[in-house]
Amino acid sequence: MDVNIECLRYFAKAIEAETGIFYSEANFYQLSPRIIELSKTFGFESPDALWENVQKNSLSAEQKHLLFDSATNNETSFFRDKKVFDAIHDIFNAIGREKETLKIWSAACSTGQECYSMAMTFLESRDERPMKNIFSILASDISDRVLAKASKGQYSELEVQRGLPPELRSKYFEPSAPNPASLGDSSILWKAKKELSENIHFKKINLLDPWVHSHKFDVVLCRNVLIYQNTENKKKVIQRIFDNLEPSGYLILGGAESLSGISDQFDHVPMSGVVVYRKAAKPDVA
Ligand SMILES: C[S@@+](CC[C@H](N)C(=O)[O-])C[C@H]1O[C@@H](n2cnc3c(N)ncnc32)[C@H](O)[C@@H]1O
Repeated sequence: MDVNIECLRYFAKAIEAETGIFYSEANFYQLSPRIIELSKTFGFESPDALWENVQKNSLSAEQKHLLFDSATNNETSFFRDKKVFDAIHDIFNAIGREKETLKIWSAACSTGQECYSMAMTFLESRDERPMKNIFSILASDISDRVLAKASKGQYSELEVQRGLPPELRSKYFEPSAPNPASLGDSSILWKAKKELSENIHFKKINLLDPWVHSHKFDVVLCRNVLIYQNTENKKKVIQRIFDNLEPSGYLILGGAESLSGISDQFDHVPMSGVVVYRKAAKPDVA
């Protein structure tokens, strides 16, 4: 089933304006199935019927919401890019003991594997070298759908098998009732234990909107999200993350992302085989 090119252009423009996610015409093959799915969800018999309707009556707030949500790519897994978590472990060891509360932000947390992986990294590092401090993680995303899943902290066997070592699964997750939605599938779900989830707070944040936090962060993870944004948006978001970092706070990007051409306000610090970014001290004015 084909989607009219004008319809794809219209939706691509609306998605870019709201979320910054850019679908070029070369990538319309990725957008097309999403529009077909949406037309079914909205109760139209075909994408053409949806397009006809959109030209007469613009989308309702609820329909826009579902459109923007469906445009996001939510790929994630536990301990995605293991070396990054080795670096985070080193960062916790380096600065963790100096602070009463280590303040962390997972700025595009998707379904939550990233923030739970960070919580486990912190707790493991605390087990190795006992310290009194605690951690507080803000986990945010633009999508209500992924945030609802992340805040449940409940994962299927398949999701757990993607990156969560069995010993950490037994230590920090407990088996919970099978998923009632998956008829006939009695496979176990693994739910994060209280110790892991109690210091994680979930919030909807569009990184392109003005956001205000009540405090600054020691570590910000902003991974695999800016890759979909244009340079202007990248610069804007990175500048605001910089402003919201504690002095010498750390920023961690995805493996295919860098600050080259975006910001020169961070020191590049090699750690455990990856590069992390540290807020550079302002040069002394003579
Ligand atoms: C590919 S996932 C990355 C998840 C995780 N950070 C990781 O690296 O595994 C990208 C996430 O960014 C979110 N996202 C996309 N645009 C966003 C925006 N403008 N503001 C906040 N989150 C956004 C998506 O909803 C999606 O869950």
